[in-house]
Amino acid sequence: MHTNNLSNQKTINSIVDTPSQGQGRLTVVGAGPGDVELITLKAIKTLENANVVLYDALVNEELLKYAQNAELIFVGKRKGCYAYQQEQINELIVSRAKSAGHVVRLKGGDPFVFGRGSEEMEYAASHGLEVAMVPGISSSLSVPAYQNIPVTKRGSSESFWVITGTTKEHKLSADVALAAKSNATVVILMGMSKLPQIVELFKEEGKSNMPIAIIQNGTRKNEKIGIAIMSTIVDVVEKEKLSNPAIIIIGEVVRHREALLNAKNQYSNKNARLNEVGS
Ligand SMILES: C[S@@+](CC[C@H](N)C(=O)[O-])C[C@H]1O[C@@H](n2cnc3c(N)ncnc32)[C@H](O)[C@@H]1O
Repeated sequence: MHTNNLSNQKTINSIVDTPSQGQGRLTVVGAGPGDVELITLKAIKTLENANVVLYDALVNEELLKYAQNAELIFVGKRKGCYAYQQEQINELIVSRAKSAGHVVRLKGGDPFVFGRGSEEMEYAASHGLEVAMVPGISSSLSVPAYQNIPVTKRGSSESFWVITGTTKEHKLSADVALAAKSNATVVILMGMSKLPQIVELFKEEGKSNMPIAIIQNGTRKNEKIGIAIMSTIVDVVEKEKLSNPAIIIIGEVVRHREALLNAKNQYSNKNARLNEVGS
């Protein structure tokens, strides 16, 4: 049983390197969180072999330079642009794969983290396409990390939740209330419009002083960050004009930035004192 599972795994992963049999193929590829250097080598190689690239708004367009031989189609939502429905994207994947060969679906972060990558693969497979996936660096971990916020830290957090702030019914996920009861770090994507509701849930758990960070356009040149505690974060967001795309990080781990800064300052002060004594 165990051996069978392993050999299936090998077959699935090896699809990435298998040439198309004529019926077309889809590779769902993670583009990372925004910084162009935060993409995998495998993703770059896949882009180089693409005939068509369908990409989203959160993808850094500089990455499209790797897809020199491909037709590039923007299918994301952006002000003033036509927004494709998911059904239209699915159909476009299948029709372009059948006419052109290899379609790459380039998505922000990791396509399997709130990215609908799995749905697109299923649709493509049910229409006879070969399918494969190249994981990406998800914003849920890398955006906090870029701002020196670890999602786990010995003594502060033993686990983390990554939750969507907005479900397909446009409601706050019920998991946020459960996470608020835990000691875990809570990372919320697509939660900015529900921030006051989120704050209330944590206050109900007696966590008014819990540290919270909001990072907009993480890892990009226009990155913005707001740090506060639960009871003051809404004011900070208003003052700093923080908006989407942004990620919310809740937990003691947010204090790591401060701890790091203190450690650096202590070192500099100690060195300065030693230099004084020596001179
Ligand atoms: C549809 S989800 C896709 C997440 C993506 N698959 C990933 O793994 O990062 C989009 C949400 O991810 C978050 N997000 C993605 N990239 C971000 C970035 N560079 N900075 C801040 N938040 C980001 C925002 O909450 C945004 O609304």
